[in-house]
Amino acid sequence: MTFVIGENCIKCKYTDCVEVCPVDCFYEGPNFLVIHPDECIDCALCEPECPANAIFSEDEVPEDQQEFIELNAELSEIWPNITEKKDPLPDAGEWDGKKGKLDQLER
Ligand code: SF4
Ligand code: F3S
Repeated sequence: MTFVIGENCIKCKYTDCVEVCPVDCFYEGPNFLVIHPDECIDCALCEPECPANAIFSEDEVPEDQQEFIELNAELSEIWPNITEKKDPLPDAGEWDGKKGKLDQLER
């Protein structure tokens, strides 16, 4: 089992999540973070830390965000590791909660 970052991280990227991960398995793209499914130890510490409520246990990913499971696996192989919190993206407050952000994902 792994945890998965879903749509609401896109264009927000608060990064509070990375600070609590005991195995440092977060990876960073231009406007989204992902979790490496083979490295996550399923500790659940990150889930309550996300101000955007964008992190789910794999078995609780909403029906309309199922594709994020594969997306986390794919992008975590490509993007660099991130272990320290940084400033959120400048318009994070504006984008937080917006639906249909997948087409805003930058790779
Ligand atoms: Fe890291 Fe635990 Fe979150 Fe997995 S569940 S990404 S191990 S903090
Ligand atoms: Fe994204 Fe939430 Fe982490 S917005 S960067 S999953 S704290």
